[in-house]
Amino acid sequence: MRSHYCGQLNETFIDQSVTLCGWMHRRRDHGGVIFIDLRDREGLVQVVFDPDTQDAFAVAERVRGEYVLRVQGIVRYRPAGTENLELGTGKIEVLGKHLEILNTAETPPFQIDDIDINEETRLRYRYIDLRRPMMQERFKLRAQVTRSIRRFMDDNGFLDIETPMLTKATPEGARDYLVPSRTHEGEFFALPQSPQLFKQLLMMSGMDRYYQIVRCFRDEDLRADRQPEFTQLDIELSFVDEFMIRDLMETMIRGLFKEVLDVSLPNPFPSMTYAEAMTRYGSDKPDLRTSLEITEISDLVKDVEFKVFNAAANDANSRVAAMRVPKGSELSRKQLDDYALFVAIYGAKGLAYIKVNDRSAGREGLQSPILKFLPDDVIAAILDRVHAETGDVVFFGADKAKIVNDALGALRLKVSEDLGLMEAGWKPLWVVDFPMFEWDEKDKRWVSLHHPFTAPNVTDISAIEANPGACISRAYDMVLNGSEIGGGSIRIHRPDMQSAVFNLLGIGETEAREKFGFLLDALKSGCPPHGGLAFGLDRLVMLMTGATSIRDVIAFPKTQTASCPLTSAPSPASEMQLRELHIKLRRPPATATPA
Ligand code: AMO
Ligand code: AMP
Repeated sequence: MRSHYCGQLNETFIDQSVTLCGWMHRRRDHGGVIFIDLRDREGLVQVVFDPDTQDAFAVAERVRGEYVLRVQGIVRYRPAGTENLELGTGKIEVLGKHLEILNTAETPPFQIDDIDINEETRLRYRYIDLRRPMMQERFKLRAQVTRSIRRFMDDNGFLDIETPMLTKATPEGARDYLVPSRTHEGEFFALPQSPQLFKQLLMMSGMDRYYQIVRCFRDEDLRADRQPEFTQLDIELSFVDEFMIRDLMETMIRGLFKEVLDVSLPNPFPSMTYAEAMTRYGSDKPDLRTSLEITEISDLVKDVEFKVFNAAANDANSRVAAMRVPKGSELSRKQLDDYALFVAIYGAKGLAYIKVNDRSAGREGLQSPILKFLPDDVIAAILDRVHAETGDVVFFGADKAKIVNDALGALRLKVSEDLGLMEAGWKPLWVVDFPMFEWDEKDKRWVSLHHPFTAPNVTDISAIEANPGACISRAYDMVLNGSEIGGGSIRIHRPDMQSAVFNLLGIGETEAREKFGFLLDALKSGCPPHGGLAFGLDRLVMLMTGATSIRDVIAFPKTQTASCPLTSAPSPASEMQLRELHIKLRRPPATATPA
C-alpha cells in the first residue's frame, strides 16, 4: 500500500521511488503544473504533477481538499530558490507518476490549518480537528508519556491490575455518576471517582506494588483543567513511608521529562509545608515561576486607625498581608482599578496599595489612598518588611484568611503574567504537612482535606479527637508550575484509627458499616502499612505539550456542560429501557399553556 510516511522523506531519498498515502492538504495550479501537499501523521510533502504524466495529471485535476490519495513517484530536489526550510521535507519534492483517489471527501467544515475555530465546532467534527498537525503532535507526546511511565513501573516491580468500573461510591469530594441496575430494582452502581479503596484492598491482598492508567469519573463543575472523565496514573505500595514514595515518584517524573522533553528537573524537588505555601503564596499549589511573594503584616497594623486593617489584624481567622511588585509604580490608575475588580472576584472588598515613587523621601515619596490612616513608623516597618524600593507598588489584602489568600494568590499570578515576571521553564514542588481536617462553616462539621483514608502524623487517637483542627496528615501533593499534577498519602492501616476518623467526620457506625464495611473488615485481616498517590495524566500531558486546556490532550473530551457534541451524548433513553431499569422520570409539572 505504501512505502513511507510523507513526513519521513528528505534528501537521503533522492531518486528513490516511493509510494505515499495521505490526505490532500492543499493544491496549487501553476501554469500547467499541479502541486499537491500530501499530509499524513508524520507531516507534509509536496507532490508535483506535470502534463507529461498524463494519467496522473488528469486525476490530480480532480482532487479536492481532504480527498484520500495514494501516490507513487520519484523523490527529487526542489529547484534552487523554492525550498521551504520550515518543512522537514522542504528541500525535496516527489514527482508524481501514478495517482489514485482512495476516497473523496466533502468540503470540510473548517480548514485544517485554520487556528481560529470555535471549540464547539472542533468537538462536533473532532475527527477533522484531530487531523491538525498540532493535535497529532500532542497525542504522539501523550503516547510517549504513557510508554515511558509503563516502562518505569515495569522496571520497578509494579503490577498493572484493573479495578472495577461498576462499583460503589468512593468519596473523593465530587458527585458520583450513577448507573442503574436492571437486575436489582432501585439500586445503582457508581462509576469510580478513583480506584482508591480497591488499590488499598490490593495491598491487603499482598500485591505489594500496584499501578494502573485508569479512567475516573467525577460529576463536578468543569474548568480548563477538569473533565468529568479523566485519566489517573494510579499507584499504591506496601511497606513504605512518604519519603520513599516521594523519592520514587520524583525519579519517575524526572526520567519522563528527560526522555520526552529533554528537560532536567531538579534533584531533589523542593518541598514546602502547606502552612508556608498559604502564608507566602496564598495557595496550596504555588507557581514558583514568579518570585512575587505575600508577606504577613498583621502584627504591624494591630493598632492603626484604619479599621479595615486593625479589624483583620486582631481576628484569629483573618490576616493582613502585603505583596510587593517591583516596578509596579508605573501601573496606571486604570490598571490599579482593574486589579481591584479582579480581586473582588475572590471576595476582596478592596485593594489598598502604596506606590513607592521615592523611597528616600519618606511619606512625601509615597502615593496611596491609605497613607492618611497609617503612622510613619508603621509605614516604614511595612516597607522594610517587604523590602520595597523606589519604583515598586505594594498591594494589601485585609480580610478572612481565605479571602486574602485567594485574592492575593490569584493577583500574584495575574500581575506576574501582565508584567512579564513569569520565568520560562519548569518549577516542580512537593507540598506537604496538610491539615487532616478542615472545618466546614456551612455544614458545621469537619471534612477531610484529602480523603478519609489518609493517615494522620500521630498514632494517638485521643490527641486527634482533642483538637482535630491541629492534626497534620501524611499527605503530599506534587505541584508543577502552579498546577496540582498529583496527590497521595500514607493510608490508615489500623481499623480503630479508621473508625475514629470516620467518627470525627460525622460518619456514624451504621453509616460507616453500610458504606465502608468491606474496608473495615479487610483492615482487620492483616493489612500492611501502605501508601500511594495518583497523577492527573491529562494535566501532566497538558503541561508537557504547552496546551492550555486538558480538552486538547483528550481525544474525545466533553464540553464545559459535560456533553459530547460529536455523539450528542448524553441522550434520552427509550421508554422500554427505562422500564427495564425500573426508572420513572420526574418531570417538572406541566405548566398550563395560556389560552
Ligand atoms: P485526587 O483527587 O487528588 O486524589 O486526584 C489525583 C489527581 O487527579 C487529577 N484530577 C483531575 N484531572 C482532571 N479532571 C478532574 N476532574 C480531576 N480531578 C482530579 C489531579 C489530581 O492531583 N485517590 C486519590 C489519590 C491517592 O490518594 O492516591 C485521588 O484521587 O491532577
Ligand atoms: P476606603 O477607606 O474604604 O475607601 O478604603 C481605602 C482603600 O483601602 C481603598 O484603596 C480600598 O480599595 C482599600 N480596601 C478596602 N477594603 C480593603 C480590604 N479588605 N483589603 C484591602 N484593601 C482594602
